[in-house]
Amino acid sequence: MQEALVLLMLIIFPVKVASSSATPSEPTLSLPGCPDKCGDVTIPYPFGIGDGCAAISFNPSFAVTCNSTFQPPRPMIYAPASADSNTSTPMEVINISLERGEVSIYAPVGYKCFKANTNTLDNYTGEFSLEGTPLILSTTRNRFVVIGCSALGLIGSSNPDFSVAGCFSYCEGLNQTSDGAPCSGKGCCETTISPNFTAFQAVVANVTLLPSFNPCIYAMLVQVGWYSFRRQDLVGHLGFISERATRGVPVLSDWAIRNGSCPKEGAMAPQDYACISTNSYCMNASNGPGYLCSCSKGYKGNPYLREGCQDINECEMRKQDPKYSALYPCKKGVCINTPGGYICRCRIGTRSDGTNSGCQPVLSQSEQVIIVMKLQRRKHRKEKDEYFKQNGGLRLYDEMRSRQVDTILILTETEIQQATENYSDDRVLGCGGHGTVYRGILDDGKEVAIKKSKVIDDGCREEFVNEIIILSQINHRNIVKLLGCCLEVDVPMLVYEFISSGTLFEFLHENDQRLSAPLDLRLKIATQSAEALAYIHSSTSRTILHGDVKSLNILLDNEYNAKVSDFGASALKPMDKNDFIMLIQGTLGYLDPETFVSHHLTDKSDVYSFGVVLLELITRKRAIYIDNHNEKKSLSHTFILMFHQNELRDILDSEIVDNEVMVVLEKLADLIMHCLSPRGDERPTMKEVAEHLQMLRRLQMQLVTKTNPIRAHYSYGGPATTVTSGHGDSQSGVGC
Ligand SMILES: *[C@@H]1O[C@H](CO)[C@@H](O)[C@H](O)[C@H]1NC(C)=O
Ligand SMILES: *[C@@H]1O[C@H](CO)[C@@H](O)[C@H](O)[C@H]1NC(C)=O
Ligand SMILES: *[C@@H]1O[C@H](CO)[C@@H](O)[C@H](O)[C@H]1NC(C)=O
Ligand SMILES: *[C@@H]1O[C@H](CO)[C@@H](O)[C@H](O)[C@H]1NC(C)=O
Ligand SMILES: *[C@@H]1O[C@H](CO)[C@@H](O)[C@H](O)[C@H]1NC(C)=O
Ligand SMILES: *[C@@H]1O[C@H](CO)[C@@H](O)[C@H](O)[C@H]1NC(C)=O
Ligand SMILES: *[C@@H]1O[C@H](CO)[C@@H](O)[C@H](O)[C@H]1NC(C)=O
Ligand SMILES: *[C@@H]1O[C@H](CO)[C@@H](O)[C@H](O)[C@H]1NC(C)=O
Ligand SMILES: *[C@@H]1O[C@H](CO)[C@@H](O)[C@H](O)[C@H]1NC(C)=O
Ligand SMILES: *[C@@H]1O[C@H](CO)[C@@H](O)[C@H](O)[C@H]1NC(C)=O
Repeated sequence: MQEALVLLMLIIFPVKVASSSATPSEPTLSLPGCPDKCGDVTIPYPFGIGDGCAAISFNPSFAVTCNSTFQPPRPMIYAPASADSNTSTPMEVINISLERGEVSIYAPVGYKCFKANTNTLDNYTGEFSLEGTPLILSTTRNRFVVIGCSALGLIGSSNPDFSVAGCFSYCEGLNQTSDGAPCSGKGCCETTISPNFTAFQAVVANVTLLPSFNPCIYAMLVQVGWYSFRRQDLVGHLGFISERATRGVPVLSDWAIRNGSCPKEGAMAPQDYACISTNSYCMNASNGPGYLCSCSKGYKGNPYLREGCQDINECEMRKQDPKYSALYPCKKGVCINTPGGYICRCRIGTRSDGTNSGCQPVLSQSEQVIIVMKLQRRKHRKEKDEYFKQNGGLRLYDEMRSRQVDTILILTETEIQQATENYSDDRVLGCGGHGTVYRGILDDGKEVAIKKSKVIDDGCREEFVNEIIILSQINHRNIVKLLGCCLEVDVPMLVYEFISSGTLFEFLHENDQRLSAPLDLRLKIATQSAEALAYIHSSTSRTILHGDVKSLNILLDNEYNAKVSDFGASALKPMDKNDFIMLIQGTLGYLDPETFVSHHLTDKSDVYSFGVVLLELITRKRAIYIDNHNEKKSLSHTFILMFHQNELRDILDSEIVDNEVMVVLEKLADLIMHCLSPRGDERPTMKEVAEHLQMLRRLQMQLVTKTNPIRAHYSYGGPATTVTSGHGDSQSGVGC
């Protein structure tokens, strides 16, 4: 029915919509006739420069003062005068966001300074008030930060109730601190504030004598991520303020129309309702009372102005900026902008004169609608069939019949849509070099991970089907099982078993409070992963390479058993230069130097990459890590250097260094050195690596039994805390 409506609309206004392709100028965000900028800062309505330009009936503080004493001029917000103060200090605005309902402003820094050998003292209590304004400090996006040695900082608010938060920072020498270190108590500390703060005082005091190098201590509320510690900030008189905080520090606050809330669905909007643009809607504020307005999907602009939300011309965006073509695809049709959206019109009935006027109204409109719908539907089905064929679907069926494979589930596009709630963003487990991975629930309630590949090359489709057949027949307890696929869409989708406890990468490197990882657990994960790789290299009818061995591709189940994932992904794509560059970026730190030169993957490149994973396991450092001097280092490189300098102990994770098992660690290091040999033919095979690891695992157990028979009885069941669920490159992981 919806489809019919869209088509009908199209037929009635075919020429009109097609010709209105000129881009409208950017809609202005201020009231007509009012300035929309103060200096570099855009001031969108309901904010405005001066009373006549702002929505002061909702709140007088929407009126911004543009102070042109400064060059460029600076926008200021004043809190309304209250009973106990006539004048309020202006607050400088850094940025106003309509969409997010945020204002970023400068807030003061509280400090205390001692001048050497005198009793003189500078001090300032950072006082700040948003009382009476539509702004409320953001709890999630600000932190209270204290800088100094022996500095106790407190932030207090008496509104709505009296509440105080604070933290203590301490250091004995400058050399105990390091630039860029997190504010966890050495040199600086930080804490969150409680909700509903509208005014605060940031005070700081020293608890003991300050060391002579640190004359000043500071306390401030500041936007998350703005402050990063520098040792310099501890040194010198008011150094931090004069160098980095001359105008104060940025603080984020949430604004909203604080009078009223969104009308109930179906109810009339109140008369003074602020969302007056057509194609706008109301959202209740997330912080404090009130509401915000937003333009409907397909529109952009200012929802607080009449006709403020304007149609987005998706077709133009797509033409002008290639990055939108993925967002607004229109594969085989003509893109036509419509109010609030766009449609791809078929080329059926297109006249050959190229004017592209589409289906001419020869038949009556209703007849036409029916015909076009039928054609559309048939075309769509045909397109699906085509994809199915292109993706090797027929061949897969043939193969399955001839080899009597019945382990592959072939899902339709509709089934995949149902399983992933139409590829809902909530279901994204992650995305990596090869595609996006969704968590899906099949009809029978089974949880699966569904991987939507990136475009695959035509030349590889045959290869791909082979891969599916081989992978689906692999049944190894340490390999993530491929359950099925869907070939009805333009890119094939693969369905894998769902693994619950995240990746080895997360387990080793991303725990907030590091989970303990004893040596026996690490050896277990290493051995299991090596067995999986050895199996795949040698046990099947033809060798399959992994091609992307890294800790992100080793998943862990709820008993911390390793499950290697993303096998054969490399076979989906041929290696042209661009792909190769992508691969290097994705696997920096794991890449075999020989492959780097030859662009050719071998089983020995998997061995090299696995060597790096072993290194991560014994050092608990990332393959590319940041060292104490804030420099990026390659783990394999550092390891080789330290190994040759006999400084092995220094690079090992201190948790596992233990004299009684040092011999195991030394043998493991020898094995790793072997795996990292520059020449592939000097590296052991995966099978040899797996056998070696099994041997080391037994040795470790014997040593522990000998010295501590009780501990040996304890079989490792995994740390008590569960790791947050997440998945690697194949089932999730790194930044989308
Ligand atoms: C908003 O609230 C203020 C004070 O609470 C009131 O003076 C003003 O009339 C209200 N404005 C609207 C539009 O309701
Ligand atoms: C502009 O800022 C200057 C310096 O802070 C101040 O003296 C002046 O009163 C301000 N002007 C207005 C119009 O707020
Ligand atoms: C506010 O200003 C008025 C007039 O300028 C004055 O009479 C009153 O005392 C002031 N109130 C306060 C609290 O300063
Ligand atoms: C202002 O906010 C917008 C949108 O939130 C952001 O893109 C922009 O970078 C911000 N500008 C500054 C100077 O912070
Ligand atoms: C802080 O400075 C104020 C004046 O700005 C002064 O009255 C007060 O005594 C100082 N506080 C301390 C603890 O010295
Ligand atoms: C740190 O500095 C203090 C005094 O400046 C010195 O006694 C101490 O040895 C230094 N520690 C290190 C690890 O360099
Ligand atoms: C914050 O204020 C709102 C409304 O004024 C209130 O409902 C809420 O309980 C307050 N939250 C806290 C943590 O005080
Ligand atoms: C704070 O530090 C100053 C300077 O080092 C010192 O004179 C003062 O006694 C200290 N205050 C406390 C409470 O220790
Ligand atoms: C907004 O909040 C009001 C009052 O709490 C409620 O009645 C209304 O349904 C909410 N509207 C939406 C869109 O959530
Ligand atoms: C997915 O989208 C289709 C139409 O595009 C809709 O009919 C269906 O209800 C949606 N399913 C889910 C689970 O959101």
